[in-house]
Amino acid sequence: MTRASYDVLVVGAGAAGMMCAIEAARRGRRVLVVDHADRPGEKIRISGGGRCNFTNLGCGPANFLGENPRFATSALRRYTQHDFIKRIDKAGIGWHEKTLGQLFCDDSAKQIIRMLTDDMAAAGVTLKMKTGVERLARSGDGFTTALSDGSQVTAASLVVATGGKSIPKMGATGWAYEVARQFDIRVTDTRPALVPLTFEAGLLETLTPLAGVAVDAVVASAPETKAEARTRKASFTEAMLFTHRGLSGPAILQISSYWREGEAIVASMAPGRNIFDELKAAKAANGRQAIHTALGHIIPRRLAESLCEREGAAGNLADLSDKVLRRLDQAVNAWSVKPVGSEGYRTAEVTLGGVDTAALDQQTLQAKSVPGLYFIGEAVDVTGWLGGYNFQWAWSSGWAAGQNA
Ligand code: FDA
Repeated sequence: MTRASYDVLVVGAGAAGMMCAIEAARRGRRVLVVDHADRPGEKIRISGGGRCNFTNLGCGPANFLGENPRFATSALRRYTQHDFIKRIDKAGIGWHEKTLGQLFCDDSAKQIIRMLTDDMAAAGVTLKMKTGVERLARSGDGFTTALSDGSQVTAASLVVATGGKSIPKMGATGWAYEVARQFDIRVTDTRPALVPLTFEAGLLETLTPLAGVAVDAVVASAPETKAEARTRKASFTEAMLFTHRGLSGPAILQISSYWREGEAIVASMAPGRNIFDELKAAKAANGRQAIHTALGHIIPRRLAESLCEREGAAGNLADLSDKVLRRLDQAVNAWSVKPVGSEGYRTAEVTLGGVDTAALDQQTLQAKSVPGLYFIGEAVDVTGWLGGYNFQWAWSSGWAAGQNA
């Protein structure tokens, strides 16, 4: 059996792990990174449709969920989106803002992976892929691990950067949570987030013909108690997409992080427009117009037809009462619908919840009760909105741990 000793062992060569390894190695620490996947940074590679939405210009603690949303403040302030942008600029990677402060590579997400792997090599980091940790124990002030390649590695610091449970097919595991539990560190409830929502068969039947229809919507959560509303009341103004399985699109992915089983979500599909007033005006101007045609001038035609059918609004505008027009107004701008679930970890972009932030030092991400043990990135109970926030948390938390590990 080969034995090796390092100052820092980082498990997980994703965004957070690579960032941490670079920073620790630049401080002169001897760093080994292991990962059971074939290649580093696989989630970076597939993110943002292959262009990686690597940060957000407006990133701040308000864009994150967790039992203590303020926890992220320190790392986000010490290593900001502007610090990462400078790094990208220095590496000569072109980028652009797509919408809502979201920054994407002009060319390919692979450029970011190359920048990180080049920086690791330049700083002297050893990277071992296709290698997992089979056993882990505390030894003296540090840690001893048995790796799947048969070697034994001891390290003064152990950085757990294995992410969350989203997309198991890409190598995601709950290993970070197992390590936390091994050291008596609490893990909060975890659930798929930034994920499409699903609907019961009857409702789905009415939604499926709309597959492919997209609207700019305001979608809000509807927690049932005041206490829950304090942490889970939110609304997002973004695109909503009807799919064969239910609802998706950015507005739905965003609200999925706030939604809980048994609750409704409320969608406004023509935000800022008074449907009743507009239909009344259309009726006065041309009462012989079919209702679905008039509504189809405000929202996509297929959606208009479907809503008219659902609300029993048929015929010409002239034949319809104010009551029916008001019902249509509600159906368009206060559509309350109860999802039955989500598509789960198979498609979720992130895992909500994780290693309890109360157990970690917010400046260094070190476990308070286990000196030398660090948790960073998605493994921690810090979950960002859709839009580059999760990568920024990975960069910031990786950087912060890298100053100390
Ligand atoms: P990450 O999951 O990236 O890395 C963990 C690493 O640990 C992996 O390489 C894995 O193989 C390894 N690992 C896991 N278990 C292990 C074990 N037991 N032993 C050894 N290695 C192990 N965010 C964003 O801000 N902008 C975006 O555009 C997108 N887009 C996006 C698209 C898709 C499809 C997904 C699934 C996710 C996104 N995200 C995103 C979210 C973002 O990808 C995510 O939050 C970060 O990758 C988290 O970085 P980490 O380094 O914490 O974990």
